[in-house]
Amino acid sequence: MIDRTRLARLLDRERDAFRERNPRSAAAYEQARGHLFGGVPMTWMNKTAAGFPLYLAEARGARVTDLDGHEYVDFCLGDTGAMAGHSPQATVEAVADRFGRRGGATVMMPTEDAAWVGAELGRRFGVPYWSFSLTATDANRWAIRLARAVTGRPKILVNSYCYHGSVDEVLLVVGPDGRQVSREGNVGAPVDPTVTSRVVEFNDLPALERELAYGDVAAVLMEPALTNIGIVLPEPGYLEGVRELTRRYGSLLINDETHTFSAGPGGCTKAWGLRPDIVTIGKAIGGGIPSGGYGLSADVAARVEAMDGLDLVDMGGVGGTLAGNALSVAAMRATLEHVLTDDAFAAMTELATRFTKGVQEVIDAHGLPWSVTQLGARAEYRFTRPAPRNGGESNAAGDPGLDDYLHVYLANRGVLLTPFHNMALMSPATTEADVHLHHEVFAAAVAELVA
Ligand SMILES: Cc1ncc(COP(=O)(O)O)c(C=O)c1O
Repeated sequence: MIDRTRLARLLDRERDAFRERNPRSAAAYEQARGHLFGGVPMTWMNKTAAGFPLYLAEARGARVTDLDGHEYVDFCLGDTGAMAGHSPQATVEAVADRFGRRGGATVMMPTEDAAWVGAELGRRFGVPYWSFSLTATDANRWAIRLARAVTGRPKILVNSYCYHGSVDEVLLVVGPDGRQVSREGNVGAPVDPTVTSRVVEFNDLPALERELAYGDVAAVLMEPALTNIGIVLPEPGYLEGVRELTRRYGSLLINDETHTFSAGPGGCTKAWGLRPDIVTIGKAIGGGIPSGGYGLSADVAARVEAMDGLDLVDMGGVGGTLAGNALSVAAMRATLEHVLTDDAFAAMTELATRFTKGVQEVIDAHGLPWSVTQLGARAEYRFTRPAPRNGGESNAAGDPGLDDYLHVYLANRGVLLTPFHNMALMSPATTEADVHLHHEVFAAAVAELVA
């Protein structure tokens, strides 16, 4: 349906406009290339539709200002790291108090905030015993180690086209011929991930049962809805089936709620009444300050504690010097207590529903074979219809040219989406007017494309 010549012409036009609009970001990027690997502070920042990244000047709430002085409505929100909005007041005050007034971030002593956060995460996600990290990646790594330790089993099972951070065990997919293979581009894998892991498609219970039946899977690590290959929602009965099969075959179930936290105050786990053995989370819970954690069920915690010879306090492979530091737990406490509250989620979800409806109207008006899927405060469009039911289908529907066009078109008119997705996330500071601006610009981008 898309005229590719037209798309290429429009994309060139938008990239030229982007370059013209952003001379200071372009110059800063040029300057950095001599000093930074790939020209950016972290290589993924080269994921930009326009050829160079916008440089940040200021960010507050749902707004970002770049180095050239343009203000944006930010639906990217740090790919969920800023779901609480940029620099929310309560978190800023808690951080200033901890680090500035009282002092101390990395002291190797606990603070009372940590137990408060553990209790609150327990209330939200239903698992009582928490330990902290600075990233979701580390929360997953350490959860995996504990799962291996208590089950005595070697393998981790994941869903195809999942993402759980740069965790070696998760970088494999179901290939076109159904075989499990290392994910394309996997950098420096210590061993072929098929040695350490099994992978099945989301929403495929027979495949899950087939793989669990080998009896070597320590844990299934999954998002209750996929969010890193578009949003793929679970079909009725799927998550209940996962829980039943993991119990039957003696594998633990780890829910990674890092992104699916958008589903509500206790993520999908609470919203859908799930009963995982371990919950992992990162990104948003610190309101922008590096934070993460994993929560263990009472049963898993008791099993770990009953094991002889596990070095959990020194060099046994679980832990980071800065993990659970006083600054990070102060930020988590303030964010959970005052910013990402139950009420805030209700308003964010309502805005995401409005966002989804508006996008659907544009899709329908042009009869496009696209879909848009909502998960609480998050929505994402995908260039296929009906919405994909697993990661493989969603991956096959990827369209980098369309992604780039929409991203640059929106950025040139003051709207930011997540570079890795066509994802829009609502924060407590996002407004109806912000959503309306996206609809206007999105409608114009589509109208030019299909005219
Ligand atoms: C579901 C999920 N888990 C874990 C991670 C890793 O987060 P981080 O890179 O902050 O460690 C991500 C990152 O996108 C994610 O989407």
